Amino acid sequence: MTNVALTADGSKTVYSRRFEEHYHSKFGAVNESKHVFVEAGYMAVSGGAVSVLEIGFGTGLNALLTLQQAEKMRRCTYYETLELYPIDNATVSELSSDDGALQSLHVVEWEQAIEITPYFVLHKRKSDLLHCTFDRKFDVVYFDAFSPAVQPEMWTFDVFASMYAAMNIGAVLTTYCAKGDVRRTMQSAGFSVERLKGPPAGKREMLRAIKM
Ligand SMILES: C[S@@+](CC[C@H](N)C(=O)[O-])C[C@H]1O[C@@H](n2cnc3c(N)ncnc32)[C@H](O)[C@@H]1O
Repeated sequence: MTNVALTADGSKTVYSRRFEEHYHSKFGAVNESKHVFVEAGYMAVSGGAVSVLEIGFGTGLNALLTLQQAEKMRRCTYYETLELYPIDNATVSELSSDDGALQSLHVVEWEQAIEITPYFVLHKRKSDLLHCTFDRKFDVVYFDAFSPAVQPEMWTFDVFASMYAAMNIGAVLTTYCAKGDVRRTMQSAGFSVERLKGPPAGKREMLRAIKM
């Protein structure tokens, strides 16, 4: 149900036929992931060891860029990610570069916390965000669901309240979406929300929600 597509920064993404939407911005998948999730989320939280929750493992790009940043910073990172519709092997192969780095994240077992490097533990869960619970609290949430236009059920008060409950005080949730009603829903779930500049090309703004 997927198709690989090239984005404007030369990196690849996938088009979902199920949801009729790309997994990343067509203006640049790597640029978007780095800006919205790694820089505005992962790097915005200070301190040493960090736990990250990702909504939507998808291509594994956010996970890979976070792993690379964890290595650079020598920062112990626990990365839990939910995915209800994993992409198929043929699509993973098409997305992968010669170094096999992305592929190595796709081949690890689901439902287990696995040490990929001394600085990066990956825990993939084949779970539905709408029906799952969390055993730990997170410092960073990458809220990377498909847009409210195609998956409105992912952007509700109940979902943001469950994200809030799963986060530590001072934790941040970032998303590429900057819609006013999403911001207000986050606020009603208890978050303090700021609008930030979006990635260099494409979307002009993004949201960062903080659990004060
Ligand atoms: C925008 S894509 C995520 C892109 C991903 N973060 C990446 O780096 O490639 C949204 C993802 O959410 C997944 N998804 C959709 N509904 C879901 C649900 N109810 N629970 C968990 N994941 C879901 C989709 O299959 C898709 O992989």
